[in-house]
This record gives sequence, structure tokens and C-alpha cells, in this order.
Amino acid sequence: MSTSAQLRAALADALTEDGTLTDPAWRGAAETVPRELFAGSYFEQVPGSVPTRYRPVRQGDTGWLRGIYTDQTLITQLDGRIRPDDCADGSVAGSPSSSSTLPSLVLRMWHQLDVQPGQRVLEIGTGTGYSAALGAHRLGDGNLTSIEYDPVVGGAAASAIKATGYGPRLIIGDGLRGDPEGGPYDRLIATCSVRHIPMPWLHQMKPGGKILVTLSGWSYASGLALLTVTGPGAATGRFLPGYTSFMIARPHDRPPRPTLALMPGDERPSRIDPALIGTWTGSWVAQLAAPSAERMGAGAEQILWDVSTGSQARTASGPDEGWTVVQRGPARLWDQVERAVQRWQAAGEPHQESFGITVSAAGQRVWIGTEDGPGWDLPI
Ligand SMILES: C[S@@+](CC[C@H](N)C(=O)[O-])C[C@H]1O[C@@H](n2cnc3c(N)ncnc32)[C@H](O)[C@@H]1O
Repeated sequence: MSTSAQLRAALADALTEDGTLTDPAWRGAAETVPRELFAGSYFEQVPGSVPTRYRPVRQGDTGWLRGIYTDQTLITQLDGRIRPDDCADGSVAGSPSSSSTLPSLVLRMWHQLDVQPGQRVLEIGTGTGYSAALGAHRLGDGNLTSIEYDPVVGGAAASAIKATGYGPRLIIGDGLRGDPEGGPYDRLIATCSVRHIPMPWLHQMKPGGKILVTLSGWSYASGLALLTVTGPGAATGRFLPGYTSFMIARPHDRPPRPTLALMPGDERPSRIDPALIGTWTGSWVAQLAAPSAERMGAGAEQILWDVSTGSQARTASGPDEGWTVVQRGPARLWDQVERAVQRWQAAGEPHQESFGITVSAAGQRVWIGTEDGPGWDLPI
């Protein structure tokens, strides 16, 4: 049976081989920080369960340690309250609300942040504390502050970090407000996603400082952006290659809604294949175009629902060929999405890495290609 140190070394080898770990100093962090102290018990998805159910995996269970050193996200809380140790044996349904992000993603993001020794870093979303411990190992305790929204999660992370001997500054609070007392920072890394860039962050960064954050929304489409702060309250940046998603920051999550009831509306042919908004970047474009809507469905049968106005759109394959859409309500959701997808198609349907973002006091805009290219304002 392999020990924790052996499994850590094997994971570091695998992440070096696949090109994730290129900086020996971050490799040293990966080889040193024991992930099992941060995600001691975790949830495992019950295969084939609909809606998804989870069962707890605890120390001593078969495969527990191997699971921890597999490159996977370990869910550690459901619905903002259920933790694996609260769970009697058996399974439970719920939505993941805290986790230990998969090591390859944590380490890739630490590399992408381009943080240099001596720089001061603010992390949003302490979670289990695993990524904060990696950061503290590499940068030194005094250079890292991490904020967690959930006091129970933050308390567990503080105990785990203390047990490993690290001592970054830990705050329980809303990371969207940043750390007004602790700035200015050189770098900000968020391991929860946001609907727009919180303005307090920009005022707590040094000029030229960098922010690495996933932009998402109420349809849960995502893109990872690296922004440079260009002045007080201003930043610009580009989206990065790959497919990164994070749970959305709790204050940015969509409001609770009733069970969907589809209503009649006006029908017309659709000018685009609805399946396009089920693709990684297509769903992102649709979310930019209709940020107050939630997207459901699959393939040709897509549903958009904006609870605040009661607006709905639903698509289907046409009777002969093509597709139809039924829309109702004041926000013509499909009109918005269709126009946006056509602009994206005209640009050659690029992946998010061809998109950029500009933030200023005047607003926040995501664009394709260049700042004056086709774009959409983010909801603020
Ligand atoms: C994916 S987990 C973080 C993973 C973590 N970095 C790790 O290595 O374990 C996301 C965390 O963000 C937290 N979170 C959500 N909204 C937040 C907010 N507004 N401020 C700070 N933390 C937040 C969640 O409670 C959750 O623990």
C-alpha cells in the first residue's frame, strides 16, 4: 500500500509529465502539502443517480487516500450545510457548495497568476485551505491572505492549515468586498466564480497587479480571465485557453426559483441551431447575451427562463427541417441569444481565449478579438 508521501510524489510526477507543473518551486509545494489534512472526508458521486446523490468517503474507507491523490475535485459540503461527517452511512442529494479543487487546476492557476516571491496575494474562496497551504508554502505566510464566506468551512480550513504548520492570514467574510485593510496586493486569485468583477478588488490592487478569476453566470457557463489593473478602478485582460469552471460566489448566485412551468408564447423559426448554445463557448455567448436567464435542456431542445420578468424561450427541431422557438414575456431571450450567436459565428466561432474583458467605472464589457470588437455588457 502506498503512503501519502508516495502518492503525493506520484501525483507531482504525473502533473510534471503533463506539463502542469513547470516551476520546481510549485512542484515542491505539491510534494509537501498533505491534501488529506484538508479534505479528510469527502463526498463521492453515486454513479448513475438522478438527481445526483453523494456518499461520504472517510478515513479508513477503501480507496480513501487514493481518492485524495487522484487528480479530482473533492466535494466537501452540499447545500451550504451538509458535510461528509454529518452524514450517516448511505447517500444524500444536494448541490456542491464547497470543495477541494482538483490539484492540477489549483497548480495551473498558481502558475498562470505569475506570482513572484515577495509579492502579496489575496485568495478568494479558502474552501478546504489546500490551495492556501500550497500558496503559503511557496510564498511565505506573510504574503498570503485568504477569505472564506462560510464560517464553518473557514473554521475547518483554519484548523487544517494550523495542523500543517502554515500560517497565512485567514478571514471569514465576503471575498467580493476584498480585504480593505490588507491591501494593496500584487495578485488576486479567486477559486469561486463571479458574474462581474467586484469593484473593491480593483481599488485594493497595486497598478499593474493581476487578477485571475473565472467569470460565470446564472446559466453556469464559464471562462477563466487574467486581468491587469490599469488604474484606480480599471482593468483589462483576456480569457485563457482551456475549460475552467468554479462554483459561483454565493452572493452572485441566482435567486431561488419555483419549479419550471412552460407557458405558451409566440412561435417562429430559429435562425441558429439551438444545440450551439449547449457547447462550451456557445453557452458562454448565450449567457453574455441573456445574463438574467437560466439555461436548461440539451441539443435542439433548449429552454431559457428569466424568473425576474417571467420571460421564457424554448426551442425544438422543426416539423420538416430546421428549428422553431417559442418566446413569451417582455425579454425576448431567443432574439438576444440568436443575435449574439450570429455575431460569434461571424467571428469564426472562436473559443473564449479569443475573448477579452475591460472594466472601468463606466461598466464592464466582454468582447471578441479586440476592445472595439463585438461585445456584451456584464450585469452589475
Ligand atoms: C471551489 S471552493 C474553493 C477551493 C479551495 N481553494 C481549495 O483549495 O480547497 C470555493 C469556495 O468559495 C467559497 N465562497 C463562495 N462565495 C464566496 C465569497 N463571496 N467570498 C469568499 N468565499 C466564497 C465557498 O464557500 C467555497 O468554500
